[in-house]
Amino acid sequence: MLWALSWGVQFTARASPGSIRPGLQITSPLSAFDGDPPISQSSDWLERRVPLLQRAFVTRVYGVVPQAAPRDVQRRTIDSAALGGTARLELLTVSLGQTMTDTPLDVALLAPAGEGPFPLIIMSDFCGLDSDIDPRLPAPIWRPERCRTQLGRALTRLSHGDAILRPPLRAMIERGYAVAVFYAGDVAPDDPVLFREAQINRGAGSAKSGAIADWASLYLSAFDALRIDPRISPAHIAFWGHSRYGKAALLAAALDNRVGAVIANQSGTFGATLSSATRGETTAQIVRRFPHWFPDSLASSVTQRSMDGLDQHMLLALLAPRPVLLGNAGLDRWSDPAASFAAARAASEVYGLFGSAGLVQPSMRQPDLSADIAFYVRPGGHGVRSSDWSTALDFLDQHFEERPGA
Ligand code: GCU
Repeated sequence: MLWALSWGVQFTARASPGSIRPGLQITSPLSAFDGDPPISQSSDWLERRVPLLQRAFVTRVYGVVPQAAPRDVQRRTIDSAALGGTARLELLTVSLGQTMTDTPLDVALLAPAGEGPFPLIIMSDFCGLDSDIDPRLPAPIWRPERCRTQLGRALTRLSHGDAILRPPLRAMIERGYAVAVFYAGDVAPDDPVLFREAQINRGAGSAKSGAIADWASLYLSAFDALRIDPRISPAHIAFWGHSRYGKAALLAAALDNRVGAVIANQSGTFGATLSSATRGETTAQIVRRFPHWFPDSLASSVTQRSMDGLDQHMLLALLAPRPVLLGNAGLDRWSDPAASFAAARAASEVYGLFGSAGLVQPSMRQPDLSADIAFYVRPGGHGVRSSDWSTALDFLDQHFEERPGA
């Protein structure tokens, strides 16, 4: 009985990522766009097309991304022999500047013992640094409902995977990575009412920005605070984000080419998934359910279906030629792995300008982690499992292998 159930689940997991509508035309990211003629050289891509597309994503999709450069960074050692003496745990209090917000961004940094320089993974967490990373770290002012009780947290782990709240810190440290985790909820709460009231929105005008843009700017603030740390190798900093934070991580790296690599797990609509092809969450659905993630103007563009030729493969193309890993789950039809695979394929044309093949795997089920764009589908549903992290670390090992000290 049990085996039949388990077989059924595995079978559905394998069968379900689906395919995109046959015959769907995907505009090449190199073809003419907004009056800019077709691109055939990397220099034209970098000089002309990158700024044009960056502006298009800000004005047509995500809204104003606040200025990220930190005003000041205070450091405090929480434990010089954390994780059984293998790591050092520090708290960075990052002042974002009054035009952005008085509320500082708390970032927990775990670095392997030793001098480095270490590659670094920057990520956001869902419930707060005290509960997700270490109880000695500060508790947030606000957390989402499901994070407030032990039961809520346990149910979240059950429904969304063993690593949804806590990344496997020890494994990361053992494999030589430093990890920086920030909690976005105090600065830009994931709540429609609190978000609109948050100080970070007053500068831009809350109608003109959205939570994804703000979270993207927090990734970049953490990046700026950490890239000058002598223990960190600045060319080997990766952004990691799951789902809504995967969307933010992709946007942040698309806006700043100093970011070394991106791992976006099940980032879905307005992440790595083509809006024009998805059979999962539509653009109208996401804007209706999560209005605070986007500027007000997006609601009318999606109902009029007028994204003016802009789609998410162009966001992935902005990452070229940097390494990108797209994690997917077979049962997660909502984020539509097939429409994300199609985006990765279309973005690869731009990687070609830089002498990289981009995505080389022949199908969603045959990942090639050595390629600059890699894609995998694991069994099961939406969430983060330890296995997602081992794939992510395997991917980074291959792309950061020439790093100092490796
Ligand atoms: C919802 C939303 C998705 C998002 C996801 C998440 O399901 O519709 O777009 O990616 O939440 O962040 O977990």
